[in-house]
Amino acid sequence: MQTIRQSTELNEHLAALRSDGKRIALVPTMGALHAGHMALVEAAKHAADHVVVSIFVNPMQFGPSEDLDRYPRREQADSRMLSDANVDVLWMPTVEEMYPDGFATTVSVGGITELYDGAARPGHFDGVATVVAKLFNQVRPDVALFGEKDYQQLAVIRKMVADLDFGIDIIGVPTQREDDGLAMSSRNIYLIDEDRKKAVALPRALGIAARDIARGGDVQAALDQAREMLTKAGFEIDYVDIVEEGTLGPHDPEKPSRLLAAARIGGTRLIDNIPVALE
Ligand code: PAJ
Repeated sequence: MQTIRQSTELNEHLAALRSDGKRIALVPTMGALHAGHMALVEAAKHAADHVVVSIFVNPMQFGPSEDLDRYPRREQADSRMLSDANVDVLWMPTVEEMYPDGFATTVSVGGITELYDGAARPGHFDGVATVVAKLFNQVRPDVALFGEKDYQQLAVIRKMVADLDFGIDIIGVPTQREDDGLAMSSRNIYLIDEDRKKAVALPRALGIAARDIARGGDVQAALDQAREMLTKAGFEIDYVDIVEEGTLGPHDPEKPSRLLAAARIGGTRLIDNIPVALE
């Protein structure tokens, strides 16, 4: 595996990889890698001949009171995991490389970014779209992989790629979970033991609501019950809602749908989502 920190070197290396029409996959990450990230890497290997993983803790997508400074950084362990997984290139640009003095452009996807995490974290999706657009232009992959764990992010990227004609296939990879059902996340390490135990209420509440709705139960009652379960477990809720699968548009009982939730426990904000089976 080549670890590359400068775009000139990246360009040279990618030109070699791209020879003979070889397909390149990109897996963008912020590091502190876990089995969720590695599921994207495995899917990338199936989708392309060469895999590039980027690690960049993107300051532009963190709000002023968010966890940029304490976000976990584990370069050595990450690098070992990726090289063991036979990744071809680890792209680790510096902040100066990504945002040189005078940087002044923002990619802002409309509509879909106004609700849910977009409403709760102003500017967050502009930061995500801008950095992912830059990574796409730097690596020019044939395919890029994103986790369903960040369901709204996946939808924002799909919309940006369609609207701006990036011509990159976007593959969504199902959420990888711990044994008790909690979605894997680099932020789970912030949870103290007691809160880690309570956190299982998040996937459980969504699972129960999804099952009730799939069985024809009242949608609002199912959402209320999920909210009550979360509050009882000690969560402060940002949102719990049901949306149309893919677009995050208003729920339509005739179409596939998703339950989305974000809630805070002990100062840590967790998100999760789950599909609702159609009858
Ligand atoms: P990060 O949180 O590091 O996640 C990188 C990718 O891994 C994202 O596509 C995310 O959805 C996926 N992922 C995280 N946990 C997962 C899980 N439990 N199961 C499946 N996939 C999971 O998301 C970001 O970084 C950033 O916003 C980024 C896209 C890199 C832009 O800065």
